Amino acid sequence: MLEPSREALVSELISSLQKIQLRLGYIPQEAIQWLAEEMHLSEQDIYGVATFYKNFRFTPPGKHQVKMCMGTACFVQGGESLLSATTERLGVEPGETTEDGRYSLERVACLGCCALAPVSVVDEEIHGKMNQRKMSRLFVQIDKKDREEKRGKSK
Ligand code: FES
Repeated sequence: MLEPSREALVSELISSLQKIQLRLGYIPQEAIQWLAEEMHLSEQDIYGVATFYKNFRFTPPGKHQVKMCMGTACFVQGGESLLSATTERLGVEPGETTEDGRYSLERVACLGCCALAPVSVVDEEIHGKMNQRKMSRLFVQIDKKDREEKRGKSK
């Protein structure tokens, strides 16, 4: 009798976490506290569930969101080393945002365009047949665009 009610509780918790992330882009500490009170759970219980499912983030998303597909086709086509190079370049792990708030990095499941593997999504734009050189060029373009935007604002 205990298992189904625990399953229902976990299911309700995941649903609440998804709604919060959908609305805010991440799960803030205040939301964890609020959920703990509402559901009569400890904050540790909430973190335990939320961190088990890798798609929840606990820091605000960056200005630019970089998503790396880790589905089977992308993984096999070099997605893992691409993720590793991007992690190194940005200085953050998946699920984190750079200190300056410019980039956030995420690993995502199959995006449904496996023929283009390995696939990355940067600011909602899909980039197929991705490699480190293309990724690097993309970052240079984004940085350049941001600098121009900043200069434009300061005039
Ligand atoms: S595995 Fe990456 S798009 Fe399908």
